[in-house]
Amino acid sequence: MAQQKLWWQHGIIYQIYPRSFHDTNADGIGDLPGIIQHLDYLQDLGVDGIWLSPINPSPDRDFGYDVSDYNAIDPKFGTMQDFDTLLTEAHQRGIHIILDLVLNHTSDLHPWFQESLKSRENPYHDWYLWHDPAPDGDYPNNWISIFGGPAWEYNRELNQYYYHMFTPQQPDLNWRNPQVRQEMLDIFRFWLDRGVDGFRLDVFNEYFKDKDFRNNPRKPGIHLLPFDRYEHIYDTSQPEMFPLLKEIRGIVDSYPERYVVGETFLADAVHARLYIGPDLLHAGFDYGYAKSPWGARSFGNAIAFWDALHGEEAWPNYFLNNHDTPRSSVRYVTGENDARLKLLAGMHLTVRGTPYLYYGEEIGMRDTRYRRRELQDPVGKRYWPLNKGRDGCRSPMQWDASPHAGFSSAQPWLRSNPDYPQRNVQAQSEDPHSLYHFYKQLIQLRRENPALYAGALDLLPLENELVLVYKRTAAEQQALIALNFSNREQEVSVPAPEAKVPENESQAWQLLFAGNDLVNSTFSEGNVHLPPYGVAILIA
Ligand code: GLC
Repeated sequence: MAQQKLWWQHGIIYQIYPRSFHDTNADGIGDLPGIIQHLDYLQDLGVDGIWLSPINPSPDRDFGYDVSDYNAIDPKFGTMQDFDTLLTEAHQRGIHIILDLVLNHTSDLHPWFQESLKSRENPYHDWYLWHDPAPDGDYPNNWISIFGGPAWEYNRELNQYYYHMFTPQQPDLNWRNPQVRQEMLDIFRFWLDRGVDGFRLDVFNEYFKDKDFRNNPRKPGIHLLPFDRYEHIYDTSQPEMFPLLKEIRGIVDSYPERYVVGETFLADAVHARLYIGPDLLHAGFDYGYAKSPWGARSFGNAIAFWDALHGEEAWPNYFLNNHDTPRSSVRYVTGENDARLKLLAGMHLTVRGTPYLYYGEEIGMRDTRYRRRELQDPVGKRYWPLNKGRDGCRSPMQWDASPHAGFSSAQPWLRSNPDYPQRNVQAQSEDPHSLYHFYKQLIQLRRENPALYAGALDLLPLENELVLVYKRTAAEQQALIALNFSNREQEVSVPAPEAKVPENESQAWQLLFAGNDLVNSTFSEGNVHLPPYGVAILIA
């Protein structure tokens, strides 16, 4: 592993859902000037990069994940000039910008799709996955959309179906068409030339489908959702993705210090790892950690597994939250107490890998509960009440106790969580014991200590089912982290640090963080006391 400090590897990346961060023009929707206004806040928090959920023009059937122009900024978010200002201002603060590229599908209102609808002979027709009906007029095959129903939508004029993995308003592109491929690769160049630092590739392993459109085999067992009744071997993860990723990486690497992280779709961790490498993706996401049940053993196993999969050749990343899943504050906590979130932060910011934070995580924002008639997300609208959709984790950022949480002076696109008068950035910055200060202190420690941002990871055998202990070892420093997953006090025995030079065998640890507080005391070996949900960080 290179010794050079790389921003995407050793730093922290903060995901912003732009609709929900800060609205400056009173239309109820967040915007780029709103992000610019808070760059000082993000710099002070200590983040190295921002991943922006899509900001391209979109009819918002899936809120930006249905793009109608890849080389422009949606006017509801601002102008290209605002974007350039955001880049410049972020870079001045040492903050990198990562764009979300949604290249598997476009919006049905994208001019390419509108053209492709005109006739079978139209030059854009083959840009999408059109297929004749089966001889009996039925769907071309048994593929299902993950957002519900068959993945094929019929068009009477053309007497053909088109394929969509997501909503019918998100037709999948035909990546086997050389013009599509060229056009897509030019999108990377367009944004790299403007100065962006990297990309998050939305459902990238979905780009190619089986060229013969074979039926997916049935999966054994009983599954509630039709989508889950099939093995998705023909509608996702085709081998053509590997040469394409190499080409993408070649483009990205022709610019200095750029980064590309992929969202693998429907793949397990082992499979997701296959796409990461020196000539593939820099990193990829996996839900194993975020979906871990509460507990030292299960989180330890999730970390050990993902870490080992990466080995020394690759760098893991970790997220507890994103725009697609209920927040950790409601997955692991009932009520308002933040003790468990502090413990999770202690883990998240000390594992080997790039920690991703999701806006509002640093103040423990809770999911907002919306009534059915308030729903915006197509997933919630379709599956209510089985699945209430993803609006809950997308509610407006809670800046202060003023109306609409200081997010907007108008009614926001999604109602603010009613807890905002108590839970907001301003209140927590004034309280030294808040979750916000906890995150800030840990981020600071991570930034200052090479063992924490760069060290190898070794889990220590569990002596106590309730406490997770691991070591981080860098060339110049070692760290030991102990995390108490229980609501009772625990003691953990800490071995002496490993001697770095033989003649200096009795080195001592420095205890940097104990329980809930920054401390600075020396500690040779013996028992460390952990209060309920307490964190200890020692370095030597
Ligand atoms: C990804 C996005 C999700 C979106 C889907 C379709 O999974 O994270 O929000 O709905 O792709 O683009």
